[in-house]
Amino acid sequence: MAKDTLSVTDNRTGKSYEIPIEEGNVIRATALREIKTGPEDFGMMSYDPALVNTATCKSRVTFIDGDKGILRYRGYPIEELAEKSNFLEVAYLIVKGELPDKKHFATWESNIKIHTMVHENIKRFMEGFRHDAHPMGMLLGTVGAMSTFYPEAKEIFDLETRRLQTRRLIGKIPTLAAWAFRHTRGLPYVYPDNELSYTGNFLSMLFKMTELQYKPNPVLEKALDVIFILHADHEQNCSTNAVRAVGSSDPDPYACLAAGIAALYGPLHGGANEAAIRMLVEIGSKEKIPGMIKSVKAGDTLLQGFGHRVYKNYDPRAKILKKLAYDVFEVTGRNPLIDVAIELERIALEDDYFIKRKLYPNVDFYSGIIYQAMGFPMTMFPVLFAIARTAGWLAQWAEMVRDPEQKITRPRQIFLGEGTRHWMPIDRRPAPSMREDAVSEAI
Ligand code: ACO
Repeated sequence: MAKDTLSVTDNRTGKSYEIPIEEGNVIRATALREIKTGPEDFGMMSYDPALVNTATCKSRVTFIDGDKGILRYRGYPIEELAEKSNFLEVAYLIVKGELPDKKHFATWESNIKIHTMVHENIKRFMEGFRHDAHPMGMLLGTVGAMSTFYPEAKEIFDLETRRLQTRRLIGKIPTLAAWAFRHTRGLPYVYPDNELSYTGNFLSMLFKMTELQYKPNPVLEKALDVIFILHADHEQNCSTNAVRAVGSSDPDPYACLAAGIAALYGPLHGGANEAAIRMLVEIGSKEKIPGMIKSVKAGDTLLQGFGHRVYKNYDPRAKILKKLAYDVFEVTGRNPLIDVAIELERIALEDDYFIKRKLYPNVDFYSGIIYQAMGFPMTMFPVLFAIARTAGWLAQWAEMVRDPEQKITRPRQIFLGEGTRHWMPIDRRPAPSMREDAVSEAI
């Protein structure tokens, strides 16, 4: 009869161990510590740079089956949510675990909207950034600074306090994002208009000029709302892991989200759609695609917006975005890069190199084309991502805070440095460059 254990024989000692298997395919890394050569031995550990095969938490928020191209928030397929829901409702679902009924949605919407304004000192704080500051850097700094405005947020084990900060952050993040954009344009910051929808208000704070009330184009408002839904959570990605790791030492959620934004700032995470746009611009026309594919296959460059650590199938978000692009173009006019993108995808998906490696378009392949058509500069791409992901970060953070198994994150290392050495007076030390055994760090 099959047992839920893993038998391991240590060939150094000949001893065998039986390690329990949990949840069908999981062993606890700490179980390896029992495997020792003797009482002085530290015990075995696993080595997993970039955590490619290590679960760091148990979560109920988002499910991904990368081989099948499935993404679900709290059980709901992303396709259904993108088609039928709205971002604020999806944020509720992600944070609270269930879709709201009419009454709960109305309360949630009003609770979020009363937090769209920010303290005037935060506005002045933002005004202090240089005229050419990157909007993502502004968002990062300002979300961190918000920690000082809400000292009670430190009471992270108090449910009501957590709820209040969650509403505050989801409410205020579009305001900060829009103001970061206005700052780079040298335009006055626009205060929130709570008559508009969550996403409509964001568009107003971005693009309102002299009109008394900004009227968002309903197609663009809907498109951006769908894009927010698609980016609202993605389980244990780099930025969510950053939120959880920083959160594990119990700071307030503003500090945790600043860490998430910092992780998202990197070109390998929130900046990949910018790289995709640059690549499409560089290709320029369909005729140049075969040459590009050739250099990708030669290993000279990557096909940006292709491939994913988790998806080994078509990223379901990319499918939705590809369709959405055409709705947006009805209003904005066609972004000519779409033709290059579609043809590039067609050729790549028929090519053995990409088929063998299971490389498909990811969410970043089409999102940049849509953002560009809507008038967003590339520096705003990761900022848009951060607005949506705020819901996911907060849900994952709250899950971690409530999880009795979690403690301060503290990975192990494999130490490869020097053994004990003894200090010498400075005039007796050889020059570092003369010492062949010296570690040459690239600093
Ligand atoms: N173009 C060409 N070849 C690729 C690409 C690509 N975009 N992605 C992976 N490969 C190749 C690798 O060279 C490797 O080939 P090899 O087996 O011959 O060495 C093979 O496919 C496996 O690739 P890995 O690097 O092991 O895949 P990994 O899971 O580590 O990387 C990643 C995933 C980082 C997303 C990668 O596919 C990539 O760099 N893509 C381009 C950048 C991008 O679009 N990033 C956005 C990701 S989505 C997000 O973060 C929101």
